[in-house]
Amino acid sequence: MTLDNIPRHVAIIMDGNGRWARQRGLNRIFGHRQGAESVRECCKQALVYGVEYLSLFAFSEENWGRPKEEVDALMSLMLDSLINEKKLFLDNDIRFRVIGKTDGVPEEIIRGIGELEEATKDFKTMTLLVFFNYSGKWDIVQAASAYAASVAEAVRAGENPPALDRGDFDGLLATSGVPDPDLLIRTSGEKRLSNFMLWQCAYTEFYFTDVFWPDFREKEWASALESYSNRERRYGKIK
Ligand code: FPP
Repeated sequence: MTLDNIPRHVAIIMDGNGRWARQRGLNRIFGHRQGAESVRECCKQALVYGVEYLSLFAFSEENWGRPKEEVDALMSLMLDSLINEKKLFLDNDIRFRVIGKTDGVPEEIIRGIGELEEATKDFKTMTLLVFFNYSGKWDIVQAASAYAASVAEAVRAGENPPALDRGDFDGLLATSGVPDPDLLIRTSGEKRLSNFMLWQCAYTEFYFTDVFWPDFREKEWASALESYSNRERRYGKIK
């Protein structure tokens, strides 16, 4: 399939692991495991299409409220992925980055993330951003706090407070340096942003599908990108 335009940055809210498992009479955790397979497939598809940035919402700040057994399983999956997927990143020139708070995240995961980020920091073909222990409101608050601290510092030094425009604020967010998402995909029929990249999605195109995340594979990628290629992005202007 030839497409007119490929999104530079695709962001995905991977939803429906639990329902996928329940439909099969399986434990929710099995659904997350199958979801991790879709993550690998998703990286491969993004490479096939030449997507430069792929952002995946893997664990939200709110997910701590799930039963301990499920939270532990998601932490183990993250740890396993850091080890098992290293080869995929090294073989395919994929830069790996994690966006989110470190508070509450097990030490061995923080260490594993740091090592994988370091090992892939010069890779250029694609950047995979895994949003882990992340929320959009947290990101906006931490950016505002950083700005407030710089104002306080200037006042203390008897200088003018630093200016702040949209671009400056972009630079204070945890996604600093990453272009805003062009396309946001959410699976499983839910149509919400759920505290994902609130600031960054101001002009993002949304694509919703009823397919559960563990079933989101090659065919679904093609449908999402085909839909995007037919969109006319006007950014509030007239064309
Ligand atoms: C949403 O499905 C999915 C998540 C909360 C976790 C996403 C995790 C993965 C795709 C597995 C890979 C994970 C890591 C950490 C690398 P849900 O549980 O909300 O599904 P439901 O709405 O059907 O209950």
